[in-house]
Amino acid sequence: MLKFDDHPSGRHFLQIPGPTNVPDRVLRALDHPTIDHRGPEFARLTLEILDGLKRVFQTSSPIVIYPASGTGAWEAALVNTLSPGDKVLMFETGHFATLWRKMADRLGLSVDFVPGDWRSGVDPAIVEAKLGADKAHAIKAVLVVHNETSTGVTTAIPPIRQAIDRAAHPALLMVDTISSLASIDYRHAEWGVDVTVAGSQKGLMLPPGLSFNAVSDKALAASKSARLPRSYFAWDEIIAMNRQGYFPYTPATNLLYGLHEAIDMLLGEGLPNVFARHDRHAEATRRAVRGWGLEILCRNPAEYSSSLTAIIVPDGHDADAFRREALARYDLSLGTGLGRLAGKVFRVGHLGFFNDLMLCGTLCGVEMALAASRVPHKSGGVAAALAFLAGATSTRSGAQALAASTA
Ligand SMILES: Cc1ncc(COP(=O)(O)O)c(C=O)c1O
Repeated sequence: MLKFDDHPSGRHFLQIPGPTNVPDRVLRALDHPTIDHRGPEFARLTLEILDGLKRVFQTSSPIVIYPASGTGAWEAALVNTLSPGDKVLMFETGHFATLWRKMADRLGLSVDFVPGDWRSGVDPAIVEAKLGADKAHAIKAVLVVHNETSTGVTTAIPPIRQAIDRAAHPALLMVDTISSLASIDYRHAEWGVDVTVAGSQKGLMLPPGLSFNAVSDKALAASKSARLPRSYFAWDEIIAMNRQGYFPYTPATNLLYGLHEAIDMLLGEGLPNVFARHDRHAEATRRAVRGWGLEILCRNPAEYSSSLTAIIVPDGHDADAFRREALARYDLSLGTGLGRLAGKVFRVGHLGFFNDLMLCGTLCGVEMALAASRVPHKSGGVAAALAFLAGATSTRSGAQALAASTA
């Protein structure tokens, strides 16, 4: 039989970009006895969660919770709002954008997939040009991955919204925040997003198994006439029953306990502090990468991800062989290269339940594993990260800290 704790002594370092480390507080909350999901205590739990989630998504719109991985919430976003043959605009920012596109194809949508180099985010000028040329308003939705988990590239959402508005186009804006929500500043309402897709296993610090749609009034209106088949994922019944704190099916009660606790932790820390912490750890990681003389996959510093960093391994070396060494020697799990990046990059997750010393341990593990697997690199990466962390206190934002340390 497989033993789940079959690791060497000490904590395993789970530094893939999700699932992330689950805090002990959340683990303890999961451990409570399952209750009647049609009883009064459960209704209170749901209502408190839905209230708290609105603060995390920064919206007053309904949020739908699914007992599904993030892929389920991708599907829910599409089937609730679109009809067979509808045209959608998508962007090849990386592996996850490509998978979402594949799903749209399989659902019978007609996808205009703008090619990309897997090192950059979405160009708002292309959004504006495509929508501006679509005089008949055939494009029904623009779909963007906020933080491409395969590449460590973040697309700024407000310029995408502005591009849609400048083209005076009625397309819905749908955004995948699976690896950004509760790690990188994200504002469903202020940024005019119609459907936000999120998952439990990253910034929300839960195990995998829950996913979310935040739904604007415009998206709700679209769902009234949308004709893609849907049943389990249909928003209407879930939103109606949620008003009393219930679900039309048996919910994932214990994951909801964990979600309640995680929301309390995030709001207790304060979202601006959560985002600043992620900015700071991301900057420290990038300093380590530069110290090692390695290359960050993300081309444009304005698009650097604060939740993960993808690092290119020099030609002739296999990123997965390096990752195997990190796991075998140091019990450190790093993210693999996905799709066309397989073997070429490894990814360091610095999101979720994380602090300075966890980052230091992670970066030490990377540095030691680079040496052990004979990947050419310079020494001094960890030292560069430590110098940054020492100079940039955790109460300041990453941007402020960066400004101070480079002044
Ligand atoms: C950005 C992004 N979108 C979608 C997904 C798919 O989510 P899941 O694997 O939970 O179905 C992931 C998973 O890592 C992701 O990072």
